[in-house]
Amino acid sequence: MASRRLFHVARGLCGLRAAHTTQRFNFTRAYCSASRNFEMITAEKKGEKQNVGFIKLNRPKALNALCDQLMAELQDALDDFEKDKNVGAIVITGSEKAFAAGADIKEMQNLTYQKCLQGDFLAHWTRVARCRKPVIAAVNGFALGGGCELAMMCDIIYAGNKAKFGQPEILLGTLPGAGGTQRLPRAVGKSLAMEMILTGNPITADEAHKSGLVSKVFPAEELVIEAIKTAEKISGLSKIAVQLAKEAVNTGYESSLSEGLHFEKRVFHSTFSTDDRKEGMTAFVEKRKAEFTDN
Ligand code: CAA
Repeated sequence: MASRRLFHVARGLCGLRAAHTTQRFNFTRAYCSASRNFEMITAEKKGEKQNVGFIKLNRPKALNALCDQLMAELQDALDDFEKDKNVGAIVITGSEKAFAAGADIKEMQNLTYQKCLQGDFLAHWTRVARCRKPVIAAVNGFALGGGCELAMMCDIIYAGNKAKFGQPEILLGTLPGAGGTQRLPRAVGKSLAMEMILTGNPITADEAHKSGLVSKVFPAEELVIEAIKTAEKISGLSKIAVQLAKEAVNTGYESSLSEGLHFEKRVFHSTFSTDDRKEGMTAFVEKRKAEFTDN
């Protein structure tokens, strides 16, 4: 992964001029091992118990446009947090102006159909949706095109009151290519999704809230704090139960009701083999706080 990233850096992708190459190695704050350095995101642990993985998209000059390097770094950070046993949930955010203004149009401008097909363009973006730990998108500002799709790959979306969600690809002569035509109708219903995808018109945070795309709206400056609070709460619960619950919701979301119900029943039964289920119920009966051990 690191070599792929350096390869892209070396090729000057993301519209950076060659003269800036040396600056690229003045990396911003790094997370984890010394070998894990990022340029277009920051990744660190947050929360009183340092059990929240916090990723900030950090490409301000391009409004966090999701170029190849940024997405590769995001994957690396997710890999790290997924491996970290202390981390129970992850927050992804951007800046106050932009969560992300979409896939990088400058990178895509001269792509051909053949290159897209042969390279399976954007296929690696699904890493976010495949994360086994809960991921919360904290969206301030623009979440457009791939930015909206990235938010929808997360499990929970919180929005700042000035956030704007949209799928403007139609205005570029193309269509959403990272899940927008599939996840948006499931989130907001067919009519609003069609309107957004066919006109390119964005919706406000309040409209996103009313339509079910986001679960809560906060004043912009409180958004990240609230997202971290929720992530801390999730991180303090049984990691086994959380993982199974996330999997059950996603399985049902992507299959028929009867298949989803069947899967739910099976994983519900499976929690009766865990110490955490026994502890959670015993603690309730004994009127005390549960002490989960993730077993
Ligand atoms: N790709 C590459 N660069 C982008 C970008 C994008 N998606 N969005 C913004 N930028 C760059 C601009 O080119 C500009 O760079 P320069 O200063 O070098 O010119 C910089 O970010 C600031 O942008 P603006 O000057 O346009 O800022 P603004 O405040 O006037 O407008 C905006 C903000 C309305 C978000 C506007 O930038 C915009 O419309 N961006 C494109 C949004 C879009 O079409 N997204 C969909 C992309 S396609 C996609 O995502 C496909 C998919 O499904 C995966």
